[in-house]
Amino acid sequence: MHSFELLVNQFEEKFSKRHFPDQPTTLYDPNEYFLRLGGKRIRPVLCLMGNELFDNLHKDVWHVAAALELFHNFTLIHDDIMDKAPLRRGTQTVHEKFGINTALLSGDVMMIAAYENLNKVQSAFLHSILKLFNETAKKVCEGQQLDMDFEKIENISFEQYVNMIELKTSVMLAASLKMGAILGGASERNQNLLYEFGKKLGIAFQIQDDYLDAFGDPQKVGKQVGGDIFANKKTFLLIKALEIADENQKAILVNNQQTDIAGVNEILSIFKKCKVDEWALQLKNKYMQEAFAHLQEIAVLEVRKKHLVELANNLLDRKF
Ligand code: IPE
Ligand code: IPE
Ligand code: MG
Ligand code: MG
Ligand code: MG
Repeated sequence: MHSFELLVNQFEEKFSKRHFPDQPTTLYDPNEYFLRLGGKRIRPVLCLMGNELFDNLHKDVWHVAAALELFHNFTLIHDDIMDKAPLRRGTQTVHEKFGINTALLSGDVMMIAAYENLNKVQSAFLHSILKLFNETAKKVCEGQQLDMDFEKIENISFEQYVNMIELKTSVMLAASLKMGAILGGASERNQNLLYEFGKKLGIAFQIQDDYLDAFGDPQKVGKQVGGDIFANKKTFLLIKALEIADENQKAILVNNQQTDIAGVNEILSIFKKCKVDEWALQLKNKYMQEAFAHLQEIAVLEVRKKHLVELANNLLDRKF
């Protein structure tokens, strides 16, 4: 069993090769550019850890890990178009640098490259992994559509928000763990417990993402601070603030979409006055407790879970 640092280094070593042909450079260079910008590589490492929870690393786990990271990067390229985001990983987004049409197509071909990696998995596991991969990919699309639909709806409940982030973000983390577990020969019960752990972890992960979008250090986050406010996103910060705010504040919040920094700062100061930043901490902890309850039930020696627990805790306090 290995720590996050060790696994991420091993993954990087394999993943840092070129993934695409040379020509046409206008299609493939944007992808190589984007993949080289790094990222936390959470999903592949979760897959590796899910595998190591039950057995030594399976030779095919690297293909699945690569597929997950490629698929994730594809979703980010398209997400940045949808969210009109100028910055990612501390630099220009793909569509800003290369144009929207190229970003669409480069994203598409990145997704196909994900499937090419999956196709290298031995046939005994291919069917179940592909099935889970496809189910998850569809859920991500559903979540992304809801995320955009909510931009135009004033009243989104906390339950609707959680359902949306479960689809757009957390099922991917859950599936990454489960794919590793499948390759590790885990029982169905253990696979499902790990999936549920991942789902709760994923919700906490997106809560932290939304928190950082508002309150993060731009240098560390590498994305445009206040991007969700610019895009009129319905985050838990806004939903909770609307519950607490007085009538004046509410009037400003309801008109959430802001077009300049002054407007964004006004919303942020209302968030702070309503103490939604403090509530974020409680909320993350609630989901993490639920996550750990599932992890606890998994029938393997506690010591095998150590690195996963460490990673989960680090993800919650992450600054980027
Ligand atoms: C960003 O994911 C998109 C979300 C699902 C919140 P990450 O925060 O994992 O992005 P990178 O890969 O580390 O850049
Ligand atoms: C993105 O959620 C989820 C997916 C890419 C599927 P966000 O839109 O909140 O992610 P960031 O903040 O741009 O990374
Ligand atoms: Mg986004
Ligand atoms: Mg988005
Ligand atoms: Mg975000």
